[in-house]
Amino acid sequence: MNILVTGVSGFIGFSLSKYILELSNKHKIYGIDSLNSYYSQKLKKKRTNILKKYKNFKFKKLDISNKSKINNYLKKIKLDLVINLAAQAGVRYSLSNPEEYVYSNQLGFFNILDYCRKFDVKLIYASSSSVYGDAKKFPTKEINELNPKNIYSATKLGNEIFAEIFFKFYKLKVIGLRFFTVYGEWGRPDMFILKYLETAHKKKKFIYYNKGNYVRDFTYIHDVIKLIHPLIFSKKKIFEKHEIYNVCSNRPIKVSKVYEKLNKIIKNKNLLNVKKNKLDSYKTHGSNKKILSFSKLFKFTKFDDALIKTYKWYKKFAHLI
Ligand SMILES: NC(=O)c1ccc[n+]([C@@H]2O[C@H](COP(=O)([O-])OP(=O)(O)OC[C@H]3O[C@@H](n4cnc5c(N)ncnc54)[C@H](O)[C@@H]3O)[C@@H](O)[C@H]2O)c1
Repeated sequence: MNILVTGVSGFIGFSLSKYILELSNKHKIYGIDSLNSYYSQKLKKKRTNILKKYKNFKFKKLDISNKSKINNYLKKIKLDLVINLAAQAGVRYSLSNPEEYVYSNQLGFFNILDYCRKFDVKLIYASSSSVYGDAKKFPTKEINELNPKNIYSATKLGNEIFAEIFFKFYKLKVIGLRFFTVYGEWGRPDMFILKYLETAHKKKKFIYYNKGNYVRDFTYIHDVIKLIHPLIFSKKKIFEKHEIYNVCSNRPIKVSKVYEKLNKIIKNKNLLNVKKNKLDSYKTHGSNKKILSFSKLFKFTKFDDALIKTYKWYKKFAHLI
């Protein structure tokens, strides 16, 4: 397959692309990324350079909000699938930088949808658990109420609505993935676990929201990839409808519990307690029944094992963050 992965230098884009390239040399990945400075560009470049070692990988620095450049680049390529992971991520950053979300998540996503419609290319796109907002039912199912609380999640819900319209009116083959707090090796330095490790290691201040009184459905990156593998490669009629899947472990953990576990691995002495951020929902806990229907004997990685692997990775690559 010829696959375009947008946001390829990001956490999930890199991890998924590496997995596909190692799976078989029949697959070719065209990776694009704007390499923006939301977090360490050194880390993004390192991920990109690792991918560049595979002969079936091609990289181009491109911004998906630039329609003419995107179309110009893609006109030379015959694609079977687009996996859109490029986005301005992060809930808290969206309060101070709302435009970034409009450019990348709305305009950029529209450009990708429109390209896929014109050239009849299948599309898998990233949404987010944050579209549920303060969910009332747990484990939250895909059909449960959506109630975005901030600009980031509003753009993600917007993606889902646009995808539905493109499916209905243009017969676009499209499916969406609602990721829940993904963590692991090569992860995102703006998220809880790596933020903790970084501040502990570098003896910097760790901002601890609401004494960890949140619950998150932490999902290990290698489990995420195994969960979405069948959606990418299955011969089943996966693209018959615009389906949306929770990508989660269905194992919610209190953030204060994760804090305690991390504190046992490496102490963080410089703690700044701040109150609950109003942009954050208190709890995420997704049902993964729908996505697990493609992989019956799925075994999730133990949280403690994955945490140690993440820490070992961090120690080795701390200089990149
Ligand atoms: N990691 C999670 O826990 C999580 C949870 C919910 C949803 N998601 C979604 O999954 C996707 C991947 O997330 P991630 O954790 O890998 O984030 P990430 O920030 O590590 O990766 C996103 C990549 O997209 C690139 N990018 C941003 N705007 C771009 C643009 N306009 N054009 C081209 N490239 C652009 C960034 O440079 C970055 O490398 C995102 O859409 C994110 O919103 C992630």
